[in-house]
Amino acid sequence: MILPDFSSRLIAWQKQYGRHHFPWQTDDAYCVWLSEIMLQQTQTVTVAEYYPRFWAAFPTVRDLAAAEQEQVLALWAGLGYYSRARNLHKAARQIVAEFGGTFPQRRTELEKLCGVGRSTAAAIVAFAFRQRETILDGNVKRVLCRVFARDGNPADKHFERQLWLLAESLLPENGDDMPAYTQGLMDLGATVCTRSKPVCEMCPMNDVCQARKEGRIGELPRKKTPLAIKQQTVFWLLLQRDDGAVWLQKRPQKGIWAGLYCLPESDSAKGLAEYAGNFAVQAADWEELPAIWHRLTHRLLEIIPFYVRVPCSERLPEKVTGQWVLPAKLPETGMPKPLQSLLENGLRVTHNICG
Ligand code: ADE
Repeated sequence: MILPDFSSRLIAWQKQYGRHHFPWQTDDAYCVWLSEIMLQQTQTVTVAEYYPRFWAAFPTVRDLAAAEQEQVLALWAGLGYYSRARNLHKAARQIVAEFGGTFPQRRTELEKLCGVGRSTAAAIVAFAFRQRETILDGNVKRVLCRVFARDGNPADKHFERQLWLLAESLLPENGDDMPAYTQGLMDLGATVCTRSKPVCEMCPMNDVCQARKEGRIGELPRKKTPLAIKQQTVFWLLLQRDDGAVWLQKRPQKGIWAGLYCLPESDSAKGLAEYAGNFAVQAADWEELPAIWHRLTHRLLEIIPFYVRVPCSERLPEKVTGQWVLPAKLPETGMPKPLQSLLENGLRVTHNICG
């Protein structure tokens, strides 16, 4: 089925009922890129909190390129999916080195940047340069699968190519309409054509929606087969000096929380005890804190923290890497979310750590 007025309906609907208040709604390619990367796996309410801070610290792509990775990760801390921050930083350096600090205006050029896929590249050129390129993220796929009753396996590459072609065929003729059209696709998927309990009465496509006609809204898009979530237990050692400083280690550049600061970790309590031996602390002095549950994409982490106090006179152990970080420095240290909460909430009450 072709729907010649899909774009005009969507544009008119976006202008009247869409979202217009986000701070990243500009035609500045840097702002659009930054916000699109943040929005890839994070909800708008959270991005609305992080984006202004990040932008204030790095107002241009050159500022971001000139920053240290640690500064970037510290401002990203808590947003999760940290490879996004590392790629963002690398891409800023690519833009400066390869494009003289100016954003390329072609979608295919943008796709060469670290962390930028086709849909993100299309959003940048649509919002910033009014180019007729279509986005196709999870929300847009849902809208299209419903309006056009496309019943395919979302993991199938052929089906995905069909959706790209369909999305391209729906673009408005006039490039000047691209910002409202693209925002309309996002807004419809996020606020009306939602995964559960869609508000079809409010939809500008409700009279032509094929899935609705066929009573298949609940069935489309077809679900991906969910991956099994594995549970894993890790042990953390929270060493705190009498002056409040906490012993932190920078994590390797690969793996979860790469490049962030974290507590010494082991997959066994015994491993942690061996590590603690470097600090001449007795296992009897350890206090087990309540477990923290942290959900990663395909894993559920059970973190068991042990707390132990170390006298200030304790000399720095020679064999281990890490550093004492004073409470005043903790807010500017990039740490994973569960550690942030452990230090901010748990310990403020019991051990007076953050002041
Ligand atoms: N999700 C992805 N990009 C977005 C944007 N620009 N505005 C709101 N939600 C989004």
